[in-house]
Amino acid sequence: MKTSAELIQEAKKNAALEAVKHVKDHFIVGLGSGTTVAFAIEALGKRAKEENIKIMGIPSSYQTFQLAVQHGIQITTLDEHPVIDITIDGADQVTPELHLIKGMGAALLREKIVATASKYNIIIVDESKRVKVLGENNQTVPIEILPFALALVERKIASLGGTSIIREGKGKLGPIITDNGNMIIDVNFGLIRKPKEMAFKVKNIPGVIETGFFVDLTDLVYIATENKIEKLEK
Ligand code: A5P
Repeated sequence: MKTSAELIQEAKKNAALEAVKHVKDHFIVGLGSGTTVAFAIEALGKRAKEENIKIMGIPSSYQTFQLAVQHGIQITTLDEHPVIDITIDGADQVTPELHLIKGMGAALLREKIVATASKYNIIIVDESKRVKVLGENNQTVPIEILPFALALVERKIASLGGTSIIREGKGKLGPIITDNGNMIIDVNFGLIRKPKEMAFKVKNIPGVIETGFFVDLTDLVYIATENKIEKLEK
């Protein structure tokens, strides 16, 4: 019998395989980050090789860059291709309105840039990420901040009702430093019934570089279990 961890891996892979079917020859593909996207990158590399289609990827993190290279995906940049055909990414929470929390892998800044540059955004998740309201189950919202502004940002976040914790590294003492040289704070806002408004208020604090609220960016979500895939569309 399979363990629950194995079933989750299968679900992630199923969602990834479904998303990869949307990619066509000559597409510029935005590559999100995380364990679910890793399956999509592998599948994309396989498609490119077996079907001899030409695709180019724009990675949203060093992790993804390395994986894409490993799977033979040609890399390009936003400077060369400012408009991306499709982006495939994971998420930490997804609502029925297709609002997301992202950034538990600390790649949210580039993920949002890639998503915003993209004509079509697909999110792939296993069922554990599905919620009615963002912030359920004490899910925190990752926020990338300029280290210089930490005290100010924490004070302003508190006035919005949030409790922040600085994200610490594993295999490193002290705060993690993102691919962009910044820090991440994880903020518990409780239930977030108006994510668009909250995202706007947080983004407006000087020193906040980007928030893990992804609102009105997603076109399609595949939510998978080990034996079924559900499609949520805008
Ligand atoms: C990376 O910063 C995140 O936004 C990921 O996309 C998100 O955390 C989902 O990751 P998993 O697919 O590993 O759960």
